[in-house]
Amino acid sequence: MNVFFVFDDGSMTTPPLSGTILPGITRDAIITLARKEGRTVREERYSIDQWRADAASGKLRETFACGTAAVVSAIGRIKSTKGDIVIGNGDGGLITAALKAKLVGIQRGDIADTEGWMRKIG
Ligand SMILES: Cc1ncc(COP(=O)(O)O)c(C=O)c1O
Repeated sequence: MNVFFVFDDGSMTTPPLSGTILPGITRDAIITLARKEGRTVREERYSIDQWRADAASGKLRETFACGTAAVVSAIGRIKSTKGDIVIGNGDGGLITAALKAKLVGIQRGDIADTEGWMRKIG
């Protein structure tokens, strides 16, 4: 899966396509949908230490994984021998849920596909 981080100002970060990150179709769709909502989406490296610090300070509000199988799956807690990282209330967040609902809505034909992603089969 790919991963996204959502911050207190509504902006988002996802790791860049620098060789070890798969250019997932879901990653691409999420970037497109978020930018269309007016969100800043950075494609930047984000360290575990920064993840831990931003979760602790509250700057990081949400984290989610995404991919064809997982669609959009909230990450609420990272288990670690250095102490768990708890993101937000540990139970996902509103931006994660809204992006998931939008993507699934487009896939099911309930929300207009303005990007030309959908194809008729047969
Ligand atoms: C390593 C890795 N990253 C990301 C993804 C998600 O890619 P996609 O959104 O195209 O399903 C996958 C899916 O198999 C994967 O194996």
